[in-house]
Amino acid sequence: MEQTISRVEVDGKTVELPIKKAALGANVIDMRTLQAQTGLLSFDPGFISTASCETKITYIDGDAGVLLHRGYPIDQLAEHSDYLEVCYLLLHGELPTAAQKQDFDDRVTHHTMVHEQMTRFFQGFRRDAHPMSIMVASVGALSAFYHDSTDIFDPHQRMIASMRLIAKAPTLAAMAHKYSIGQPFNYPRNDLDYASNFLHMCFSVPTEPYAQNPIVSRALDRIFILHADLAQVASTSTVRLAGSSGADPFACIAAGVASLWGPSHGGANEAVLRMLAEIGSPDRIPHFLARAKDKSDPFRLMGFGHRIYKNYDPRAKIMQRTAREALAELNASDPLLDVALELERIALSDDYFVSRRLFPNIDFYSGIILKAMGFPTSMFPALFAVARTVGWVAQWKEMIEDPKLRMGHPSQLYVGEPQREYKPIEVREAEVLPPS
Ligand code: CMC
Repeated sequence: MEQTISRVEVDGKTVELPIKKAALGANVIDMRTLQAQTGLLSFDPGFISTASCETKITYIDGDAGVLLHRGYPIDQLAEHSDYLEVCYLLLHGELPTAAQKQDFDDRVTHHTMVHEQMTRFFQGFRRDAHPMSIMVASVGALSAFYHDSTDIFDPHQRMIASMRLIAKAPTLAAMAHKYSIGQPFNYPRNDLDYASNFLHMCFSVPTEPYAQNPIVSRALDRIFILHADLAQVASTSTVRLAGSSGADPFACIAAGVASLWGPSHGGANEAVLRMLAEIGSPDRIPHFLARAKDKSDPFRLMGFGHRIYKNYDPRAKIMQRTAREALAELNASDPLLDVALELERIALSDDYFVSRRLFPNIDFYSGIILKAMGFPTSMFPALFAVARTVGWVAQWKEMIEDPKLRMGHPSQLYVGEPQREYKPIEVREAEVLPPS
């Protein structure tokens, strides 16, 4: 008989908690009545065993190395689809018809410009500002410019905000890059596809024509597809938590950018390149492997390991192939690629990494491609943010459109002082320094 109830014994009393069935993957114990029934809470720092929401967007099986968007395997999407089609899929749940695709592409394309006053906003940053600090600020600042798409209870405004975020994220990231190198901003070109337009905004200069390379554009488009969503990862959970209070959509996505910035998450691709440069040559790999294994050394092998993927990340396989194709096209034989491939080979046969199931993740390869394309390492997480914007937006929309939405408010295990009486400062001083 199908099990739908779990029974937990607490202090000799048996309580019943329903089991909710997943379409794929682990079923969940519905803990919502746990406290009412037992007075106890569940304790799960890092949410390792906690499903924070119901979703139909993305499915991951970390053991099998699977990633599905709306049921479609990521390798098929990376091979046959394009980024805006994947955006449509994530937002709407189905692949578009030709007419829907045309309409969606047109609508995103016609939201690519940002308010002209944003250029003045940029002038306030130091030239050496990290692009992610500019992204956090400028994505959040969109809410100051687009008041007509901040009513989250209006489906039309929600969709316009979604389009604006997907369309303007690359414009802001490209502006952050141009600002850091002291070149004029490039307006978007609506005759170009999403990736080609981004390359144009980042690399074109007013003084000479910029030659688009379709293979490079396709490689970037694939990088965007591979980064489009990853279920309830830290940044997405941040967006959901921020949005659960009813906050402005632009502010919520800015919160996602902030969370993405960390080196354990979207900052990893930048960290990989720094690490490969620090290693420098294949003969120095054993030294760094030893450091990665040494628990007294904070050094970790960047680009290895994943909270969910305890098998080869399916995106990393595609990224490895894309790296080879893009480097061949760009004629950029990069000594760091030799270091990367040798590091991958050694780590994959090293017992420390094998026993902990630490495989190369997507960031391990993406940085090498982006470097060959001409992006400085500090821009890598900003590109990740551009690509992930659609995932954040889709998850935010799904949450807002769920009639069961409740504001997030995780509980805690309090281990601090019990209640105590306030003492005036003279009394505290006297206690700390008794007169000699
Ligand atoms: N190098 C060396 N040891 C590692 C590494 C690493 N990169 N990752 C995990 N370990 C060890 C860790 O020390 C622990 O060892 P032990 O069991 O002896 O204490 C064991 O493996 C399990 O580690 P964990 O920290 O419990 O694993 P986690 O699932 O919490 O961490 C991670 C996942 C991604 C934060 C971590 O693997 C890491 O820091 N990797 C490097 C940073 C990186 O590449 N991040 C990008 C993630 S993919 C992009 C994204 O989704 O945003």
